[in-house]
Amino acid sequence: MDLNLCIKGRRSVRSYLDRPVPREVIDRLLDAAVWAPSGMNGQPWRFTVIQDREVIKSLSGRTAELVMKSRPLPPEMEASFKSGRDVVFYSAPLLILISVKKNPHWRTVNLLDCGLAAQNMLLAAYQEGLGSCFIGFASLLNQSPEHLARIGIPEDHELMAPLIFGYPNPNDVPEAKPRAAKVLQWI
Ligand SMILES: Cc1cc2nc3c(=O)[nH]c(=O)nc-3n(C[C@H](O)[C@H](O)[C@H](O)COP(=O)(O)O)c2cc1C
Repeated sequence: MDLNLCIKGRRSVRSYLDRPVPREVIDRLLDAAVWAPSGMNGQPWRFTVIQDREVIKSLSGRTAELVMKSRPLPPEMEASFKSGRDVVFYSAPLLILISVKKNPHWRTVNLLDCGLAAQNMLLAAYQEGLGSCFIGFASLLNQSPEHLARIGIPEDHELMAPLIFGYPNPNDVPEAKPRAAKVLQWI
């Protein structure tokens, strides 16, 4: 796919078909991730691939609890979190968590490294016909190390980029959001 079409066609998808993502497609997403640049070529990213629906549901529930604890929330957000629907991972069939070993001196670089790997995955997903969404809310799971330990993310790691993927629901296609380059100065 033309890169420009891919960059401009990708959307954050929040409605998915009940259809698993095949293993070879997931492998291609992971391969795209590791071709991102990283500070001093550190390649600090570690991936946790979760397809087990019960595990995704449980992480979603825990994230929702943590969101509700950070009240006051905007009323519409509070209502959606109380709805009982999965408003964290939107019932997506695939969750990939990108984490790194904690290093306070390099935290910003590591966060950027993971963000770049994440964007590669979001674009690769679009090329594969998948929808995707970065789920920043799920970073709250860092406050629940026991939940992360249960899925094999050790306590000395920090979750940086939680991403969901799946085949998009054709009846619920998101609109493109307007964009403009806000240049502060052109000197
Ligand atoms: C760092 C980051 C965190 C985000 N967190 C969430 C989130 O927790 N839940 C969600 O539904 N969307 C989340 N999004 C998706 C944004 O809302 C979305 O990218 C933005 O509205 C622009 O829409 P687009 O991705 O379709 O262009 C996040 C995106 C980024 C980059």
